[in-house]
This record gives sequence, structure tokens and C-alpha cells, in this order.
Amino acid sequence: MKTTSVSGAALAAVSIFSSFAAAVQPLTVDGANFITKSSGNRFSIVGVDYQPGGSSGVTATSDPLSDPQACLRDAILLQRLGVNTIRVYNLIADINHDECASIFNAAGIYMILDVNNGFDNSYLDRSAPWTTYTNAYLTHVFSIIEAFAPYPNLLGFFSGNEVINQDSAVNAPAYIRAVTRDMKDYIAKNVARDIGVGYSAADVANLLSDTWEYLGCDLANSTSSKIDFFGLNDYEWCGDSSYMQSGYNVLVQQFGNTSIPVFFSEYGCNKVEPRTFTNVPVLYGDQMSVLSGGLVYEYSEDTNNYGLVNITTADEIHLLQDYGFLATQYAKLDENLLTSANSTATGQKPPTCDPSLITGAGFYNSWDLPPRPSGVDALISSGLSSANKGKTVSVTSTAMPATVYDYDGSQLNGLELTVLEEQDSNRPGLAGNYTPSTPTGTAAATSGSTGGSSSATRSSSGKASSTASQTAATSKGAAAPMFVSSGAATFGALLASLFLL
Ligand SMILES: *[C@@H]1O[C@H](CO)[C@@H](O)[C@H](O)[C@H]1NC(C)=O
Ligand SMILES: *[C@@H]1O[C@H](CO)[C@@H](O)[C@H](O)[C@H]1NC(C)=O
Ligand SMILES: *[C@@H]1O[C@H](CO)[C@@H](O)[C@H](O)[C@H]1NC(C)=O
Ligand SMILES: *[C@@H]1O[C@H](CO)[C@@H](O)[C@H](O)[C@H]1NC(C)=O
Repeated sequence: MKTTSVSGAALAAVSIFSSFAAAVQPLTVDGANFITKSSGNRFSIVGVDYQPGGSSGVTATSDPLSDPQACLRDAILLQRLGVNTIRVYNLIADINHDECASIFNAAGIYMILDVNNGFDNSYLDRSAPWTTYTNAYLTHVFSIIEAFAPYPNLLGFFSGNEVINQDSAVNAPAYIRAVTRDMKDYIAKNVARDIGVGYSAADVANLLSDTWEYLGCDLANSTSSKIDFFGLNDYEWCGDSSYMQSGYNVLVQQFGNTSIPVFFSEYGCNKVEPRTFTNVPVLYGDQMSVLSGGLVYEYSEDTNNYGLVNITTADEIHLLQDYGFLATQYAKLDENLLTSANSTATGQKPPTCDPSLITGAGFYNSWDLPPRPSGVDALISSGLSSANKGKTVSVTSTAMPATVYDYDGSQLNGLELTVLEEQDSNRPGLAGNYTPSTPTGTAAATSGSTGGSSSATRSSSGKASSTASQTAATSKGAAAPMFVSSGAATFGALLASLFLL
């Protein structure tokens, strides 16, 4: 809905991957569910769309994963909220994202990334996609793949966001499958692990089913053009609605046999305020278990008025009323229900592409995909020659770098990042109260580390030492006193204590 990125594709890269030793567990797609490979548990997205300062467009410096202080500030508040996934739009390939990606990794938060942004050669023009489906565009997409593929907490990419609408339902669908194909082929050839590629659909009810069918069916002569997951942007539930009134029941019927994970890539109608998120228990309840969760639009307040927090300056942030309502709803989620794999869902097989799947008049019903632009075969077979490839780095500071005010105006002290061990991802109630779960992998941290380290570390350098330092960091995190140790927050705490005296 509210971003400038028009469409696109992007994907993976990088063949080096020493980093699994100290990272969130990779997720795989198994039929209609996301699965945590190591445990076999289902993964449901408890997510928030993250674009601080960015919903009105992309600028050379607006990439939300490029400012480590801001990422630490926001990761602490998102972790505390209970989030396990963020979606980020409008990324720029050639700047450094290492610290931000590593901070979210340490927090146990996955990332779903849009490969398109609003710059030239960086999105598909929905009205004339053949004019923008070019070598330069795919070079952009592949460079986003290269930049982010090395991060273990990368959940997947969106090859397009809201490209298909009423006016583009004939021209755009084949191009989205083509971009998806090119991304997945690039990943298969140049990246050391599987990374899913999905599509995020606009909230246009009569196009939803055709879009999902068109992109998610099995095409014998282009198997890689099938999407791995389907996000839909959904603003149907406003205020105190219900399962029937909101139309959620229709979605469950529509996607009841889905063969790929389906989730809300944006949700949170703001026609009734404050947003109390009474849809959350329904979305994550047993009636809707066919969906894999969703992402609330959106983290920070902007002109369109969907924020959970208000960032007033780089080092001052105010929790809005919606943040508290969402936290209360998240806290009630049934973790067992969310992590139960369902063998019917994981066993679903995609239908074969066939015009009978498409029911709407005016939706493209042929799978005649455009061939790759000239030179792109070579890009895929050799990989980009000079790509900026990310790498995970140690997270050495965990204290909240900003002053945080609760909705009632009181200052929140003692906030810090809880560094999770590799077998854990974040969930509601975990931050500040963390006991590592039983490790599932052989590389898991055990204990007996040096302890007493004053800085938390969750490096994915793959070095043997990272396990020890990670353990040290975690035990420190768990036992740490609630104490603010930096910058404006300390100064604020000092002032507050002076007033108390
Ligand atoms: C799902 O599959 C079952 C069994 O094949 C079928 O009876 C049902 O109509 C399907 N539902 C939808 C919504 O396609
Ligand atoms: C967010 O902060 C700005 C600047 O202080 C203020 O003008 C605006 O009203 C605030 N928005 C909300 C929703 O509190
Ligand atoms: C299991 O998955 C099937 C198909 O996706 C769905 O119809 C059914 O409701 C699910 N069962 C549970 C208990 O979630
Ligand atoms: C691939 O199969 C689809 C559907 O059968 C067909 O429309 C398309 O022309 C085929 N493409 C090629 C390159 O053969």
C-alpha cells in the first residue's frame, strides 16, 4: 500500500557462508508452512513493517538498515514488543548493512526484504513492465540479493509489491513471474543456501485469488518462476470487527488449500483509532491457522498515521498508544498453536498452471513469460563481478541509545537488547526474561564460557570462539541488571533522580 516501490524482484547471492554457527535458525518453506529446519516447528510471522522515515519515498540516505544506532534503538523496542520478523522496503544495495542486520539477528528477528525501490532502474513500471524489465533493473535486483543473502536472519525477498492492480492485471503478471524466475535462478547459482522469493499483493479483493493462483502454480517449462510465499496487504478489519464481518472468513476459504505460505504482508486498518488490534487473537487463533501470521503496518509514525512509535529526534522516541495495545494482544498468543506443524498443510502440492485457475475477466491467463533481457543469462551464470556482499558482525553494544517515553509520558529506563542464542528466535514475553531453550543443533552453545564479558556478542563469523563469546553474552544478558548506560538516556535518568531527591 503506502510505499513508492512499484514492483520488482530481487534476490540472493553470495556464496560464502560461514555464519550459521551463531545465528537464528534458517527457515524453510514446506508446503503451506514456514518451518524452522532444525526443530521441525512451524514458524508464524509475528511481524512489523519497518521503514522509519521512509514511507514517503526513497532517498540516497533513507535505507532503514544503514544506521546502526537507529537499528539498535528500534530492535530493542521491537524485541520488547514480541516481534520475530520485520519487513523492509526501499533498500539500497551498495551501502553497508552489516551492523543493522546483525543487531536484528542478535535480537532473534528475521527480515523479509523488498528488492525494489523508487530509483530509476530499480522497479518494474506496472503500466509498461517491458520498458523496465531490463539488464540494468536485474543488475539492481541481483545486487540486493548479494548484499543481503549472507545474513542468516534473511527470511526471504519480495520480487514485487502491489504491482498488479486493476490496470495492470493483463500486463504485469508474466513479468512478476519472470523476475521471480531470474531471482531464484540467480540464488540457485550464486548463493550457498535456499532463499525464498515471494510477492506482496495489494488489498484488492477481486484480484487476490487470481494473483495467488497465477504466481503460485507449477509451470513445467519454468519451475523457478513459481513464488515461494504470498503476502497480502489487508486493511479489512477496522476497530472491533469480527471474523465474519472483516471478511477474514473469506480469506480462509480462499486460501484453505494453499500450497505455499500465505500471510498478511501489511495489516492494521486505522479508520478507527486507537488501534486496539482485536484482530490479532483471530489471526493467530485456530480458525485462521491456514495463514502464517502477518506484519503490522507500521513501526514508526509518518504522515499516513500508522505508527506504533513516534521518533521525534534520533535519540528521542515516544511509544504511541497502539504499541501498548499490540503488545497486550501479542502477549496473549498461544505459542504452542503457532509452532505446531500441520502435515496436511506441509503436504500441499501446487496445482499445474492452467487457464481454468484464473476466474476474473481481465486477468492474464497465459504463462508465456518474457525471455531474459540480453546479457542476463551471463550475469546469472557468473554472478555479479563486483557486488557489495554483507557479512554478520559482532554486536557489541546493547544499551538503549535513545531516551524512550511511554504513552503516559513516563520515561522507560533500563531498556537493552537481549542477545539470543542461535537456537532461539524472538517471541512475545522473551525479552528481559530470557532463558535459552534447549539447543537443537550440534554447534549449539553449551556453557562454561568466560562469563562476565561486558559486551554482548553474537557474531556469525563462524569462528570457534564465537560460540563461547555468544554464551558469555547471553548469560550476561539474562543476568544483567536493568540499568541504563548510555547517552541521553543516562542523562535523563540522572535528571529524573535529581528531581526525586
Ligand atoms: C480444497 O481441497 C478439497 C479436497 O481436494 C476440496 O474439496 C475443496 O473444495 C478445496 N477448497 C478450495 C477452497 O479450493
Ligand atoms: C510525533 O511527534 C511530532 C513532533 O514532536 C508531533 O508533532 C506529532 O504530533 C507526534 N505524533 C503523534 C501521533 O504523537
Ligand atoms: C491443517 O491444514 C489444513 C490445510 O491447510 C487446514 O484445512 C486445517 O484446518 C489445518 N488444521 C489445523 C489443526 O490447523
Ligand atoms: C511454457 O508453458 C506455457 C504454458 O503451457 C506456455 O504458454 C509457454 O508458451 C511455454 N513457454 C515456452 C518458452 O515454451
